Amino acid sequence: MVGNSVVPDGASAVGTVLPTPSNAANAVTLEVSAKEPMAEGVVALTLTHPAGARLPDWTPGSHIDLVLPDGTTRQYSLCGDRWDPYTYRIAVLREPASRGGSAYVHERLRPGDRVGMGGPRNHFPLVPSEKYLFIAGGIGITPLLPMVHQAELLGADWQLLYGGRTRASMAFQDELTAAYGDRVHVVPQDELGLLDLAAWLGTPRPETNVYCCGPGPLLGAVETACASWPSYVLRTERFIAAAQAAPVRDTSFEVELRRTGRTVTVTPDVSVLEAVRRAGVDVLSSCEQGTCGTCLTPVLDGRPDHRDSILADHERAASDCMFLCVSRSCSDRLVLDL
Ligand code: FES
Repeated sequence: MVGNSVVPDGASAVGTVLPTPSNAANAVTLEVSAKEPMAEGVVALTLTHPAGARLPDWTPGSHIDLVLPDGTTRQYSLCGDRWDPYTYRIAVLREPASRGGSAYVHERLRPGDRVGMGGPRNHFPLVPSEKYLFIAGGIGITPLLPMVHQAELLGADWQLLYGGRTRASMAFQDELTAAYGDRVHVVPQDELGLLDLAAWLGTPRPETNVYCCGPGPLLGAVETACASWPSYVLRTERFIAAAQAAPVRDTSFEVELRRTGRTVTVTPDVSVLEAVRRAGVDVLSSCEQGTCGTCLTPVLDGRPDHRDSILADHERAASDCMFLCVSRSCSDRLVLDL
């Protein structure tokens, strides 16, 4: 997921050809028009087209691939005004264990620099509902921010439960509380402890759609607390892949590429993505961890062994699509629309 092309330190990418990793084959070049601190360890970037052109439309829950001048690619949720067609906003948390992406954004990226952009894509869409409960942990507020605005616009009955380490580390809390008052429940851990999920989720309310984004332990706790709710009400988005059980089968299986007219054997040591590429079929990928959704492929027949961190249970049960980078097969044969 990290490209090799490097722009020398201090050099702007303006006038250079941005690296084009496999995930961003159709990358659009954007300009960083503003960079501002939003909270401790969080900066917001405003991105615009260098020629002032319109940007692709997007919906709440969408993310983009950000291709940095050094070739590093990361996914970030769009958290600005979806009705402004000329501007995107993303917020970037400086990860203590940064592999380079967030450190580059915080330390080196400057207004005027150019970046590549793939997407937008949305694997965390806001389904129509009269009631929503949004639960954010830390930087997980970013995909939920446009959802909150959308829910308000549609006149839905909604609440936001927003937890973070400290008040100073929680981006957009002022903006949210100023706009929406007591619909927003800000819970800094050092002042108020952890989110009281038992109180909020203890009684199933099937008419309420629950959206959650944040660190893995929060997502796990919300999934546990919603265990007695209908499975379709909870939607989560993970920035880090969820732990998966062992694959259903440890033997080879066949994958038919129906449109290409080829069948490949996927051995236990290669991914479906790799096997398909070896057969000469190009499939875009980005995270290769089952979190970004780039490699989504329709399944025409067979039963996938879903190992992604994106699909809800009822979507998995439909067996009509899979993420080739991580998912495998329960059946002897899968037929893909490739
Ligand atoms: Fe990200 Fe497959 S490449 S889900």
